[in-house]
Amino acid sequence: MESVVNPVSVFPSAPVCRQTDLDLSIIIPTRSERENLPVIIGKLQEVMEGRHYEIVIVDDDSEDGTWQVAEEFSHRYRNIRVIRRINRKGLSSAITEGFLLGQGEYVAVLDADLQHDHTLIGVMLDEVGDCDLVIGSRYMNQKSVPGWDSWRSRLSRAGTIMAQKLLKQDISDPMSGFFMIRRKIIQEIAPQLFEQGYKILFDILLKRPDLKVKELPYEFKARLYGTSKLTAAVIFDFADLLISRAIPSRFNFQFIRYGAVGASGVVIHLFTLYLLYVVMGLRYPVCLVFAIETAMVSNYTLNNRWTFKEHRFLGLQWWKGLFKFNLACMVGNALNLVIGWYLVEKTVPWFYASVLGIWVGTSWNYLSNRFFTWGGNR
Ligand code: GDD
Ligand code: MN
Repeated sequence: MESVVNPVSVFPSAPVCRQTDLDLSIIIPTRSERENLPVIIGKLQEVMEGRHYEIVIVDDDSEDGTWQVAEEFSHRYRNIRVIRRINRKGLSSAITEGFLLGQGEYVAVLDADLQHDHTLIGVMLDEVGDCDLVIGSRYMNQKSVPGWDSWRSRLSRAGTIMAQKLLKQDISDPMSGFFMIRRKIIQEIAPQLFEQGYKILFDILLKRPDLKVKELPYEFKARLYGTSKLTAAVIFDFADLLISRAIPSRFNFQFIRYGAVGASGVVIHLFTLYLLYVVMGLRYPVCLVFAIETAMVSNYTLNNRWTFKEHRFLGLQWWKGLFKFNLACMVGNALNLVIGWYLVEKTVPWFYASVLGIWVGTSWNYLSNRFFTWGGNR
């Protein structure tokens, strides 16, 4: 049997250049939080005085230069480190990367915008020794978040209730973005965590139903500077939750999302046709071209934001992606156009002609988009 030698132990001992006995790594994910970052860091340093902790900022190469601010901090304080991620996006994967870089026995996530109660971190650290996971809960003492409009409240409630139904444990806020966990657990399950979306806590709870969990209430405050990055994501996240309940497999999941977007596209397509052709009385092929392109832009936007969000395009890339999407769908759309037009000329009612055209065209399009449009952005 091979003897197990720690490959690092053969190195001569080096001067300690990094703290080794850290209790806690606080992960702050950031996207355009330039103004908030100094405020949250200052407050953390105040309340964590005397504790053995570090701060890991994970920035997705924010256009406002958040990573530069973060780097300045990391030069000044040796307990602050930064990951500037290039070409990688998404809150869950940012948090996971921060967790893995962290060296504390425990890791915590804290938003940069001061919506989470930073004064609770010390309490969490005191409590976490008796369990595996401590969650900052928005819903322990109250039903909704003060200041949220009614649709966001309702959506968040609905998502929370669905999530609770899927979990074995009774957790008041399984979608919380504020929690602390033993790092060893993350190291074990990191490869299985969903890189997409932002419900990383829910994912952890699903993977490890055996964890000993404690919840602490706090009041979710208003954002200090800037705007939320997750407004549209809340809806998609809720849809993901519904789908993940029905279908556990990953490929199907993507396919079903694509299907759901496609279905919305069909409705948009037919509605546009109805407006232009039936109500306004324009020529059928002209209406059809407009209807196809309207549905295309809508489908592209939703697919980019949701179906293929791990590879989503931003900024200038978004337009290039739209162009690619149009290219990839060109043959399908041509089929759609020719079939619809031909059938209408043959006096088939417009609705049936259009539906048949859509059916042939979209079957082609799924495959070409999966492999062509989003295939390269990995
Ligand atoms: N690195 C990185 N990449 N950071 C991100 C990304 C991303 O793609 N998206 C958002 N962030 C950062 C933000 O800069 C902020 O510090 C934090 O993650 C939370 O983002 P917000 O945009 O402020 O989210 P929110 O306040 O709307 O959502 C809150 O509630 C959710 C549950 O309803 C957050 O607490 C979420 O974590 C939580 O899941
Ligand atoms: Mn926020």
